[in-house]
Amino acid sequence: MSFNLRAWSAGRLDTVELALSRWVVAEAPAGLGDAMRYAVLDGGKRLRPLLVMAAGEAVGGNPEAVLRAACAVELIHAYSLVHDDMPCMDNDILRRGKPTVHVKFGQAQALLAGDALQALAFELLAPEDDSVPGAIQATLCRLLARAAGHEGMAGGQAIDLASIGRALDENELRHMHRLKTGALLQGSVVMGAACGAASGAARHGLSDYGAAVGLAFQVVDDILDVTADSATLGKTAGKDAAQDKPTYVSLMGLERSRAYAQELLAQARSALAASGLEETLALQALAGMVVNRDN
Ligand code: IPE
Ligand code: IPE
Ligand code: MG
Ligand code: MG
Ligand code: MG
Repeated sequence: MSFNLRAWSAGRLDTVELALSRWVVAEAPAGLGDAMRYAVLDGGKRLRPLLVMAAGEAVGGNPEAVLRAACAVELIHAYSLVHDDMPCMDNDILRRGKPTVHVKFGQAQALLAGDALQALAFELLAPEDDSVPGAIQATLCRLLARAAGHEGMAGGQAIDLASIGRALDENELRHMHRLKTGALLQGSVVMGAACGAASGAARHGLSDYGAAVGLAFQVVDDILDVTADSATLGKTAGKDAAQDKPTYVSLMGLERSRAYAQELLAQARSALAASGLEETLALQALAGMVVNRDN
């Protein structure tokens, strides 16, 4: 396969970066804007925006809706990282190669930056002009709310904290990972699809692809926490074991975790094949990147 993901991503990453920088303004009261921009800009793989764009393009989606959805999921993701790193959660001091937001700006400002980024995400999905049809706006808001809320990221984070020091079985661990991380990644794909007119088979295929990629992402995050160093990750390595978190590595060991990630990659690929969509090279390559990445 001769698809060049780096070349495909380059222009799209520039577009997302520019849009995020324009939409996350410094002019918010009492330094809040500085904390918000610090949390969002200058770092991160931007995997979720790329998934939105790849899915949106595969279904011929409305470009303005796709860009807004791409930035909105990244804002929710950035907010989730700010809160995840706070002392009441994972208590981390390093993120994206920089001191975490609460270390730099204080806990209250970090809490508020997360709150404000979440609100801004939904504002982006509902532009005042008619550049995005109202029905698409409503669908995107619903999908993002579901992915971020108690049935998704926030619910998964609650399970994560309640599971410290407990040995979860495979079903429980899969459920936690699908919620805390998988939901927003699957949501990215489904939101991209919602920006265009896709057949039922295409929507199903993309949703199944997103579920497989989303779970694979956290399996690999668990692996990298053990195998990579902090400089490569841009965040503290080895902290899952240090904090006694149940992970795929603690459940099944490194080799079986790696094999499971490859199995999920195969599932993602067959879901794409079943979608009947023609333009899936970027989605295929992104799934490969999720599983074979080193940071
Ligand atoms: C890290 O996500 C947090 C998890 C959901 C495991 P990423 O690895 O996508 O973080 P960035 O955006 O590249 O910093
Ligand atoms: C975080 O999972 C998932 C989120 C919703 C932010 P982790 O706690 O494993 O993420 P990292 O390893 O700190 O990035
Ligand atoms: Mg965490
Ligand atoms: Mg963490
Ligand atoms: Mg982790």
